[in-house]
Amino acid sequence: MQSFSAPANMGPPGTGFQSGRLWVFPELDSTNAWVLAHLEDLQPGDVIRAIHQTHGRGRMNRVWIAPPGRALTLSLLLAPSRFPVAPQLIGQIAALGVARCLEQWAIPAQVKWPNDVLVAGRKIAGLLLETGSAPDRLVLGIGLNVNLRAEDLPPAQLRRPATSLQLETGREFNLEAVLLSLIESLEHSARDCASPDDLRRFWEAKDALRQHWIRIETGTETIEGRYTGIRTDGQLAVEIADHTQREFWSGDVERVDFTAPPAPHPDRPASRE
Ligand code: BTN
Repeated sequence: MQSFSAPANMGPPGTGFQSGRLWVFPELDSTNAWVLAHLEDLQPGDVIRAIHQTHGRGRMNRVWIAPPGRALTLSLLLAPSRFPVAPQLIGQIAALGVARCLEQWAIPAQVKWPNDVLVAGRKIAGLLLETGSAPDRLVLGIGLNVNLRAEDLPPAQLRRPATSLQLETGREFNLEAVLLSLIESLEHSARDCASPDDLRRFWEAKDALRQHWIRIETGTETIEGRYTGIRTDGQLAVEIADHTQREFWSGDVERVDFTAPPAPHPDRPASRE
């Protein structure tokens, strides 16, 4: 049987990021999978955290690996109708919330479409949004690399460099304190982004792709072009070789305007995917 700590109520109601109960499990396969399997027992705002997530899911059918007790792996159940923007924009609001949280810990962060969070070009957090059978319910999964060390991350030459709060600052963080500031920052971001235009403005200020050439892989095609920003409906816009504009709802993006990946830091790792 799974055990969990008593749910703790986390704050005043808002869009729902901060109003639910916190459930902490010592071990789950995937917090997103658990929430999707228990939608009827949960209410919007509830946060499910696993100290050890054994089979974390990532975007594009990848896995998300997190060493026990050193990362935050959690899922929030949301009611999209409580947000002032369309459901497909909630992931971007959440990415901005994670970036805001990092800044509160004095770590400057950027966001990368669709909803990655980077520090100095390296991924520090990933978000996965999933829906189940229940109407007006959205599961937001967040993996945040908090106290990961160099040896917790795969070798430097791989394609997607990664980092953690500890690697960026050289100090260890209290996971519970980071979690509380994360939830608060998510709610703050939801209040900031009261319209698609507000969201785009906040996104542009932290956009890691701004003014870059990019490659987007959708699973069916690979396109290169000049990044021209995100649209108010959340799509990524690219100008391709013949100056035509293409827009994408989903995919994997990387910058292609440098010839080499960021140099490996002696104490810092590279990729975890
Ligand atoms: C990505 O590929 O960037 C998204 C990673 C999302 C990982 C988180 S960890 C908590 C939640 N539960 C999961 O199984 N995945 C998400």
